[in-house]
Amino acid sequence: MRLQGKTALITGAARGIGLEFARAYIAEGAKVALADINAEAVAKAAASLGPQAVAVQMDVTRQDSIDAGFAEAIGKLGKLDILVNNAALFTAAPIVEITRADYDKLFAVNVAGTLFCLQAAARHMIERGQGGKIINMASQAGRRGESLVAVYCATKAAVISLTQSAGLNLIKHGINVNAIAPGVVDGEHWDGVDAFFAKYEGKAPGQKKREVGAAVPFGRMGTAADLTGMAVFLATGEADYVVAQTFGVDGGNWLA
Ligand SMILES: NC(=O)c1ccc[n+]([C@@H]2O[C@H](COP(=O)([O-])OP(=O)(O)OC[C@H]3O[C@@H](n4cnc5c(N)ncnc54)[C@H](O)[C@@H]3O)[C@@H](O)[C@H]2O)c1
Repeated sequence: MRLQGKTALITGAARGIGLEFARAYIAEGAKVALADINAEAVAKAAASLGPQAVAVQMDVTRQDSIDAGFAEAIGKLGKLDILVNNAALFTAAPIVEITRADYDKLFAVNVAGTLFCLQAAARHMIERGQGGKIINMASQAGRRGESLVAVYCATKAAVISLTQSAGLNLIKHGINVNAIAPGVVDGEHWDGVDAFFAKYEGKAPGQKKREVGAAVPFGRMGTAADLTGMAVFLATGEADYVVAQTFGVDGGNWLA
């Protein structure tokens, strides 16, 4: 029960990694607001986790929605100790086929969404005067370019950079900002990634997944559950002296 008495808001928590983090935080004693643009899915997800979970409909690309979502979550939870900036979109295309619409959409969700949710949480945490923990979901894709994944990689590089700046700016308030950089994590997100590679590399559906899984030094793709240890650690007092860092949790994938 390392998060007993703590409260958390997790964006993009209707499925995948965000939902698994909500489950892990509740198992450690926290109350969690699951926030997602998909109102129906997030309501179902929160209901599946029991009374320690509440659902909040929030679009991280809209300031009015962020403001209302944080107010609703803080109203329901009483306060906010932990934010996980997890909502994100993926896209892939060769450089000459990238559209401005895709670029704008990805930067709006992955970068502006991260920054302005972080800002909303930080304002509340500073006002309360009891510090807090902010965890951003980066990616191995933020540590290097990829031939077909320029825009997503650039958004995740920006998340790593924002983690550094916000981490340095907010630690004087006792707010730790850190990030997790997963490698390849199986789930609905990667079903979409697989479909992009099927289109651009002429692969059969499922083939890219098998290839990336086989290439991970650990021997398989990750699961959302593989990431929860780091997500819990960064949310506890054990991480008080950890500032502005991005941690790879990827089975050795990026280094290889
Ligand atoms: N799955 C992977 O292999 C992998 C690898 C590296 C990093 N990541 C990162 O981990 C995080 C979670 O990934 P996942 O695999 O669970 O993704 P996912 O696609 O399964 O879930 C993302 C969630 O974000 C929500 N969302 C999208 N736009 C939103 C918006 N504007 N406002 C609020 N919510 C919105 C979606 O509805 C969805 O529920 C993301 O930041 C992703 O980039 C994932």
